[in-house]
Amino acid sequence: MNRHLLSMNDLDRQDILAILGTAESMHDVQRREVKKLPTLRGRTVVNMFFEDSTRTRSSFELAGKWLSADVINISGKGSSTSKGESLRDTVRTVAAMGVDGFVIRHSASGAVHQVSEWVDAVVINAGDGTHEHPTQALLDAYSMRQRLGDLEGRHVAIVGDLTHSRVLRSNLICLKTLGAHVTVVAPPTLMPGGIATWAKNEGFDTSYDFDAVLPTVDAVMMLRVQRERMSGGFFPTEREYTVGYGLTRERLRSLQKHTVILHPGPMNRGLEIATDAADAAQSLVLDQVSAGVAVRMSVLYHLLAGEGTVA
Ligand code: NCD
Repeated sequence: MNRHLLSMNDLDRQDILAILGTAESMHDVQRREVKKLPTLRGRTVVNMFFEDSTRTRSSFELAGKWLSADVINISGKGSSTSKGESLRDTVRTVAAMGVDGFVIRHSASGAVHQVSEWVDAVVINAGDGTHEHPTQALLDAYSMRQRLGDLEGRHVAIVGDLTHSRVLRSNLICLKTLGAHVTVVAPPTLMPGGIATWAKNEGFDTSYDFDAVLPTVDAVMMLRVQRERMSGGFFPTEREYTVGYGLTRERLRSLQKHTVILHPGPMNRGLEIATDAADAAQSLVLDQVSAGVAVRMSVLYHLLAGEGTVA
């Protein structure tokens, strides 16, 4: 396994299956009354979040703590970066304290990769700009496999604001490696530039017609409309977006019985996903949150535990 987890491309099929396998044991720990393993005792992990987060940050924090690592959190707003310190100086300062692992979220695509060149510690990407979010793809795969079994030959639709989505990029790599077939669905304005070539090279399909794709899929992953990354009007009105691309109550009825619904959160209820769909029995939204801790425990274990440590 690579030393860092910067992109899903850092993991081959065997690595992914190893992480998902260990995550199952970690999930058992998560369900125990006493949630503690000694695995990372003496290791120090710093979560540095330069962008907002609820799920990813708290699940990385719990994951580190349940493995007995010492965990500290630094956020962009409360740190010296808001006094003008460069990212390089900030991470090198923290690294000098003797840190074993950095978990980093940053609004600039590629920033986490740069950090891995500035410090000796293990670096894990918790989302960099519109680039990648590998642990999200791993927890999505884990959640789908819990309900659907092996993903080989399964059909997954990824729907919504594709242009701004790091979740999309990491999932395309992960799902391809696991043998699933992906169709991405979005209005033309939210299809990333060069999508046709990208789709041809990576072997996924594209569609503007959500209703045609929906009845054929085993899983439908709804992505958030990321207003904070939009500078102009990507769709005329919210109503029109929902009519064309929202997982509405009516569309929920056209799903096959076994089809599961995913959303990485935070959800814009009523825009890309209706409450009926978000809270349906077929929805994995909270399973994804729960899997997030187990998968991040597994990633920390694989990247930070020394030789001979047992999970
Ligand atoms: C995603 C993210 O931050 O990239 N959320 C998450 O990590 N749970 C997706 C999003 O913000 O829409």
